[in-house]
Amino acid sequence: MKIDIEVLKKLEKSIDTSDPEKGEVPIKILGYGEISLVFELLNDPENIAYKRIPIFENEKQVNRHIWAYNEYNRILIQDVGLNLPNYDVAWFKDNEDKIQFYCLQEKISSESVGNRVIHDLSTEDIETFILLVMREMKKVWSYSKNHKIIDLGLDGQISNFSIIGYDPNNPKVDFNTKLLYLDTSTPMFKINGIEAMEAVLFLKSTPWFLSPLVKAAFLDEVIDRYYDLRLVIIDLIANFYKEQRPELIPGIIRLINNFFKDEASEFKMEPITFIEVDKYYKNDKMIWVIFQKARQIDRYIKTKLTHKKYSFYLPEKIQR
Ligand SMILES: Nc1ncnc2c1ncn2[C@@H]1O[C@H](COP(=O)(O)OP(=O)(O)OP(=O)(O)O)[C@@H](O)[C@H]1O
Ligand SMILES: [Mg+2]
Repeated sequence: MKIDIEVLKKLEKSIDTSDPEKGEVPIKILGYGEISLVFELLNDPENIAYKRIPIFENEKQVNRHIWAYNEYNRILIQDVGLNLPNYDVAWFKDNEDKIQFYCLQEKISSESVGNRVIHDLSTEDIETFILLVMREMKKVWSYSKNHKIIDLGLDGQISNFSIIGYDPNNPKVDFNTKLLYLDTSTPMFKINGIEAMEAVLFLKSTPWFLSPLVKAAFLDEVIDRYYDLRLVIIDLIANFYKEQRPELIPGIIRLINNFFKDEASEFKMEPITFIEVDKYYKNDKMIWVIFQKARQIDRYIKTKLTHKKYSFYLPEKIQR
């Protein structure tokens, strides 16, 4: 991918993570996660989405992450058969010798991303879309089941899938529709049980004042769930609360339980119940609300009291 490092350097020099669109280099936010800020450079002829990942302290970490990222993408495309956007990485040391790191992806239309399309598609088409997502997930878990050394994980939330060839003026999907999987900047795979990515990096956005105990418990809970097909699916379903379409949940549970019986019987999955989705959602919501608050306090201490930089983008208010 054609990247102008000088533009990124200029961007980093003036970026204010509490209002990233107001820096010297004009950008538009495309999305964000717990760690990354996803944006495009305005007036950029290249079609690139930049995922800014401010967690690296040394080159060793960067090299390991680049290796894990490339390998995760490669396995998902070549061995599993998912469709992924073209990808790359870019990084440099800024004037203060701090590492600035980006995962790059071919930019896709925001309107085609799962959490947008579920507000445009008919209920029937949303269910088709979910079934297509299930089939992508099945490929991933079949790979892990058949592979002795490598264990793959996936973040199955609806915002991580995009519909190829989606027309917002004529929103529809059918059983031949193809999906793209977007969320590869946090590589989720283990080799002989060892996380490819340096696990402590997951914790980089958690406030320093939380006790190591809380962090460790949180780390295990958050990472392990990506490797457990049942939890990944419960997470996907519970996400419909956050995406403001809870009325779809009973239908989606029915569909997924049928999928378990008809298309994924080899995984011997227990049917999912509404009660466990509801419970999961409440627990998950509590964890993230507490975290979000703690991070806001962390940001306040860093920027207002000690006049340091705060690396992460915190959205003002996330509806959950
Ligand atoms: N290639 C892309 N083109 C356009 N928009 C994108 C692209 N990739 C991601 N986005 C947008 O950004 C959002 C977050 O991206 P992504 O899922 O990759 O990050 P994340 O893993 O959720 O973040 P984190 O790891 O920090 O939690 C997506 O839901 C989507 O709306
Ligand atoms: Mg995501």
